[in-house]
Amino acid sequence: MSMRDLAKAVRENAHAPYSNFKVGAAIKTASGTVYQGCNVENVAYPEGICAEAGAIAAMCAAGERAIAEVYVIAGSDEPVPPCGGCRQKIAEFAGGDVVVTLATVGGKELAMTVGELLPGAFDASFMSGA
Ligand code: THU
Repeated sequence: MSMRDLAKAVRENAHAPYSNFKVGAAIKTASGTVYQGCNVENVAYPEGICAEAGAIAAMCAAGERAIAEVYVIAGSDEPVPPCGGCRQKIAEFAGGDVVVTLATVGGKELAMTVGELLPGAFDASFMSGA
């Protein structure tokens, strides 16, 4: 299955009864394995997690750390932009040149790099003088 098909399929499993906004994410690692995630909301709203965070957790649980490609899909009119927290979470495991494709169920796609999504990112190099 393509990255789009994998993200679209896992989106169907999203638990989004509060926003009714289902999101699916597929993350391919350097090994070629793809990890999927969907958003999981909670009645205590801040406890919900994004699709990207779920896919990253699955990747780490499998012992992988190097993101090679990301695909995120939602039912929005325009390609869904990851939230700020997810941009930082993706940047933890991806170089600035890694492509993140933002997509709609209707078929629109927008390809951006991690560097474009999170310019001026805080990374471990800033802690070297601590
Ligand atoms: N959401 C994601 O899972 N990923 C995104 O990139 C944007 C937003 C989720 C969080 C929440 O469950 C719902 O979409 C509405 O914000």
